[in-house]
Amino acid sequence: MLHGVFTACPDLSGELTRSNTVFYSVLNSVKLSVTQWLKKIIIFVLSIILQEMRDIQMVDLNVQYAKLSTEIDVSIKSVLSSAAFIKGPEVKKFEDELQKYMGCDHVISCANGTDALQIALMALKLKSGDEVITTNFTFIATVEVVALLGMKLVLVEPDPHTYNISVEAIRKAITPRTKAIVPVHLFGQCADMDGIMKLAKEYGLYIIEDTAQATGAEYTFSDGTSKKAGTIGTIGTTSFFPSKNLGCYGDGGAIFTNDETLAGKMRSISNHGMKERYHYNDIGVNSRLDTIQAAILLVKLKHLDSFNSARRKAADCYDNAFAKCQEIIIPERTGNSSHIFHQYTLRVKNGKRDDLRKYLESVKIPSMIYYPGPLHTQEAYRSLGYGDNDFPITSGLCREVLSLPMHPDLEQDQLDHIIYNVLNFFEKR
Ligand SMILES: Cc1ncc(COP(=O)(O)O)c(C=O)c1O
Repeated sequence: MLHGVFTACPDLSGELTRSNTVFYSVLNSVKLSVTQWLKKIIIFVLSIILQEMRDIQMVDLNVQYAKLSTEIDVSIKSVLSSAAFIKGPEVKKFEDELQKYMGCDHVISCANGTDALQIALMALKLKSGDEVITTNFTFIATVEVVALLGMKLVLVEPDPHTYNISVEAIRKAITPRTKAIVPVHLFGQCADMDGIMKLAKEYGLYIIEDTAQATGAEYTFSDGTSKKAGTIGTIGTTSFFPSKNLGCYGDGGAIFTNDETLAGKMRSISNHGMKERYHYNDIGVNSRLDTIQAAILLVKLKHLDSFNSARRKAADCYDNAFAKCQEIIIPERTGNSSHIFHQYTLRVKNGKRDDLRKYLESVKIPSMIYYPGPLHTQEAYRSLGYGDNDFPITSGLCREVLSLPMHPDLEQDQLDHIIYNVLNFFEKR
């Protein structure tokens, strides 16, 4: 309703969305004229009479559920009445639908995105001491599985503009013991897969794409052909953690490959290494996607492209508003990957990131720091032997990045409110 008023009355539109913030700032202001005071008070009263803006969340799963509840409830109920909670028909159906969507030969669902990475590495039979190169700027799951399996974790710097693993840094880190590269398609945009696949070919390396944050993103190679993120390397993995672009209502994950032998091995590993009932060919794990989660994902998959384009629209709004702000660096979009904005992550210059975050919090705008500390300085990874200053790009990003609310159901008034307050923060300083 409020948005309708904005459109009809452009002069008040920006003001109304900002009314709460403006009202509080008015109390602190001494320089306003009587007419300005009156205008602010009218705006504040109007905003109360009209519908209030919904609280802003980093990810609004309640609103998404409200929109899809009819379909999702039916889907969940059908699992409840069949009682096929493990390996029910929805699991296979979801794998088939996802395989069609991804355009790859095999999809193996599993319990979460961390297991997906672990199962992929187990299937490749890498040995203790084999080197696996990945980015220092990622969620811990990407690196913990490498360490857990006793492989040698080799961290490299990201590109400071796209935040994705730097191909040049990978090249410098390759040794005769290097066996695999794990690029992460961070925040929803593909890493430089042209460059990475070239290195893979040159040095005979496995590529495991960590696609947890980029399900649905598409990469266009320099020859003009396109593939979905996660289907380019030897194996791709993803997560269906609730806040992911394709998220379920608990934990879930999946593995993608075009290699039939690897697919069979990963299917077996994810189910205790069992090929036939009670016959174990591999040492495996218990990592299955619950039927209820598959039923939810079957509904959500149909909406994934529209979720992703709604996220892109919100990102366009942020980009347009912040492009000229000297204090902010907006996330770079590369020409060869669609960006599905799992996160909208800015860099805030001049040491103002933490103050901006505090200010946003004071006007009820959540924000997050992905990621606050480089992995090489974490207590658990000290044994890798890196020095504190070995990764200046990662460390710089950890000091500057700030992720703003991003989800498919962000309303225009919420975006206006966020944008106004981010810019207002810098105007005041
Ligand atoms: C880049 C990345 N890799 C792996 C994972 C692990 O996924 P899950 O939480 O499903 O284990 C995540 C989840 O946050 C992630 O962001």
